[in-house]
Amino acid sequence: MPRPTNSDLARLATSGIRRFTALANETPGCVKLTLGEPEFDTPAPVRAAVGESLARGLTHYPPNNGRPELLEALSAYMAEQGLAYAPDELIVTVGATEALAATLLALLDPGDEVVVPVPAFGLYETLVRMAHGRVVSLDTCETGFQIARDALVAAIGPRTKALVLTSPNNPTGCVYTAEALDAVAEVVARTGIYVICDDVYNRLAYDEGYERLAVRHPELRGQLVVVDSFSKPWAMTGWRLGWLAADSAIKAEVQKVHQYLVSSVPAFLQDAAVVALGCDPAPMRETYRRRRDLVCERLSAMGLALERPAGAFYAFPGIAGLGLGSEEFCERAIREAGVALVPGTCFGAEGYARLSYCVSEDNLERGLDRLGGLVADLRG
Ligand SMILES: Cc1ncc(COP(=O)(O)O)c(C=O)c1O
Repeated sequence: MPRPTNSDLARLATSGIRRFTALANETPGCVKLTLGEPEFDTPAPVRAAVGESLARGLTHYPPNNGRPELLEALSAYMAEQGLAYAPDELIVTVGATEALAATLLALLDPGDEVVVPVPAFGLYETLVRMAHGRVVSLDTCETGFQIARDALVAAIGPRTKALVLTSPNNPTGCVYTAEALDAVAEVVARTGIYVICDDVYNRLAYDEGYERLAVRHPELRGQLVVVDSFSKPWAMTGWRLGWLAADSAIKAEVQKVHQYLVSSVPAFLQDAAVVALGCDPAPMRETYRRRRDLVCERLSAMGLALERPAGAFYAFPGIAGLGLGSEEFCERAIREAGVALVPGTCFGAEGYARLSYCVSEDNLERGLDRLGGLVADLRG
C-alpha cells in the first residue's frame, strides 16, 4: 500500500468558491457574481509588448528575481506610491499567489501561527497549512471589518510569526482606517511579528483617505512584506504576474523559495509588465466605483446590512436575517433565482454572502434584480 501523502494538505477541503462556481456553471442562464476576475481586456499596449519581446528572442531563463528593467520600473513605481524599495529588494513572482506562498514558506516553522483577520481570502489558510503552520482567526465582523487593538493582542501568542493584512479587502471591499493601522503598527513593533501586506487591490481604492501600512509606518520595514500584483488593476489575471518587496534580510530568505519553486517568471512577459506600470487604471476604477454605488443602493433597498465597500470589486452583505445559512442561501440563489454569489463560510464568516461586481453592468443589474426577488420571497 502506498505511504500517506502530506497530511496537512490531505485535510484541506477543495475551494468552496470553485464548488459554487461549478454549480452556477451547471445552471443555464445563471448570472455569476462569484469571480474576482475583471471582465476588461488587458490594455492593448501591454499585450503588444509580448509579441515584440518574443520577436527579440527573449525566450531564455531570465534572472531569478526579474529582469533589471522591470525591477527598476517597479522600484520607481513603488517610490511614486511612497514606498522606498530598491530594485534588489524586489522579487517578480507568479502572481501574488506565489509571492504569498513563498513568503509563508520562508517565514514559518512547523507549528507557527499566522493571524488572519476574518472574513478573509481563503488562500491564506491553505498556504499556511501547506507550510505546516496554523491560522489564528481574528474576527472583525463585530467591528465593521476593522481590526480592534485588544482583539489583535489577544490573538498573538508565543508561536505567532505573522499577521496578514488585506486592504482593500477580499471579500468585504473595506479598507483599514488609519486608526486600525496605527493600532496594528504599535502591536507589531512591540511583538516583533511580521506583517504580510496583501495590497493587490491598492490601485482600486476609491477614496483619497486610503492608507497603506507600509506607507504610513515605514519604521516597520524590517517586519513587512508588501505583496502586489498585475492581476487586478490592469486586468491581467491570466498573465500570472505579481511581485513582493521586503527588506533585504527577509527578501534573501523568500528568494530561496522563489528560486527553487519556480526559478523565475517568463522572460517575454517582463517588458510588457513595464508597459503595464505606465498604464493608468483610473478608468477601470471609476467603472467599479459606479457599480459599487449601484450595488450599495440596490442592497440597501433590499434591506440587507452592508459595510460600504471602499475598494476592490466586492460587496459582503449580511444575510443572517433571512433565516438561512449562507451556503443554503447561495444554493437557493443559484437554483431558484439564477444568480450566483459566494457564501460567507468560504471566507470564514457565516451570515454573509460575497457579491463580485467586476461583471458588465447589464449582468450586474440582472443579477441584482434576481437577488432582490429571492430576498423578497424569503421575507415572505
Ligand atoms: C486578496 C487577494 N490576494 C491575492 C490574490 C491572488 O492574486 P494573483 O492573481 O496575483 O495571484 C487574490 C485573487 O483573487 C486576492 O483576492
